[in-house]
Amino acid sequence: MSDYDLVVRNGMVATAADVFRADIGVMDGRIATIGAKLGRGRREIDAEAKIVTPGGVDSHCHIAQRSSLGVMTADDFFTATRSAACGGTTTVIPFAAQYRGMSLRQVVQDYHASAEGKAVVDYAFHLIISDPTEQVTGQELPALIKDGYTSFKIYMTYDLLKLDDRQILEVLTLARRERALVMVHAENHDVISWLSEKLLTAGHSAPRFHAVAHAPIAEREATSRAISLAELMDVPILIVHVSAREAMEQIRLAQDRGLKVYAETCPQYLFLTADDLDRPGFEGAKYMCSPPPRDKANQEVIWRGLETGVFEVFSSDHAPYRYDDPEGKMKHGRNAPFKKVANGVPGLEVRTALLFSEGVGKGRIDLPKFVALTATNAAKLYGLYPRKGTIAVGADADLAIWDPDKAVTITQSMMHDAMDYTPYEGKQIKGWPVITLVRGEPVAEGGEFVGKAGRGQFLKCDISPASKPLGRTMIGYDLTP
Ligand code: URP
Ligand code: ZN
Ligand code: ZN
Repeated sequence: MSDYDLVVRNGMVATAADVFRADIGVMDGRIATIGAKLGRGRREIDAEAKIVTPGGVDSHCHIAQRSSLGVMTADDFFTATRSAACGGTTTVIPFAAQYRGMSLRQVVQDYHASAEGKAVVDYAFHLIISDPTEQVTGQELPALIKDGYTSFKIYMTYDLLKLDDRQILEVLTLARRERALVMVHAENHDVISWLSEKLLTAGHSAPRFHAVAHAPIAEREATSRAISLAELMDVPILIVHVSAREAMEQIRLAQDRGLKVYAETCPQYLFLTADDLDRPGFEGAKYMCSPPPRDKANQEVIWRGLETGVFEVFSSDHAPYRYDDPEGKMKHGRNAPFKKVANGVPGLEVRTALLFSEGVGKGRIDLPKFVALTATNAAKLYGLYPRKGTIAVGADADLAIWDPDKAVTITQSMMHDAMDYTPYEGKQIKGWPVITLVRGEPVAEGGEFVGKAGRGQFLKCDISPASKPLGRTMIGYDLTP
């Protein structure tokens, strides 16, 4: 007679707070006991010499989403979440993206239809709001927030998505009233489109000019403006995919002033540079994302931000568009001008291993910080904690079991997404999640996918404490209707 469905024995367990040796007993998909010398499990995993972390929570990824240029991501919910599972990530929070004129409720239904029967890890949704009409802010959004969609992303750039400052204020007001968390893509649209026009007129259309057009100052200005608007209305915000010193400094200044300004960065800002966009021919298109990768000095700045707590989350911003494919980066031709190339890079599968190897392995961050950045903080920010993002009695038994010494050379052939390239091809790293469990069931083992399409469950997000205003509005009058 077994005491548990599963016992993970003798591992070095790491949470965002502690690292300790323990057995983990799992019953009915949840962690039942954490202790020493636990009784027998129906199944047992020997985690001696391994590190056991909470499964990763990737809170920024684009799955089965059409880009603003009309290009569909290569990954659907099966391939994206299979890839997540094989990289130790057990929860994803992609976007249900509204384009202008669409009903948000309908958008959400459509994304659910895409995910059901396909997802292999658990998932929630952020909303993308591109059309904050009265119907949307007055009725659809409040109802959706109550139904478990408690965070949404707004854009300050992209023709089809961008909100102007008045619209941002409307969305912030609604977020304050309903306690939702607003994520901001902060780049100055007019600067980017003006620079792009000038570059293209001068004949500069190659991928590398994407990085010139998306200048760090455009990111800084929009970041500062988003913070100012949020401060005006006393609304917490989260600046996504921060790439450079200029924007990071604005965030740190705001944090130093006590504002609830959270920030996210991604692997592409630690491991790629604008030189990658200057690879021969059209190859640079593989590295195009917004904001773009910067330079080595900025990589060091972003590392400092991870070490010192400017960044709360490390997400992939997985936006997978195949390279040599008329439905991917080459949709508008093999040498399309940079404005016509879908923005985004893949990263769901390698996100945690890159940070483990180069962060923990190289002594830049410790294990609890790694867990916080890749799992716990995202679960807390987006209302999934403590069910997700930690190892605690009662939490879902979502675990990544790491071999800290496993040497891996990243190649596309070992990825489980639907892509035809990885931007990290040939990179040598140390440490890999050799077993991934979702609610106690293995989904990846020894680099192979062993899960089942459709086992992933939809997660309703709670209102997060992170979205609680400070209570110090700059206006002096309550303008909340
Ligand atoms: O280039 C990127 N990051 N593409 C995905 C869309 C977005 O802005 O997050
Ligand atoms: Zn974005
Ligand atoms: Zn994104």
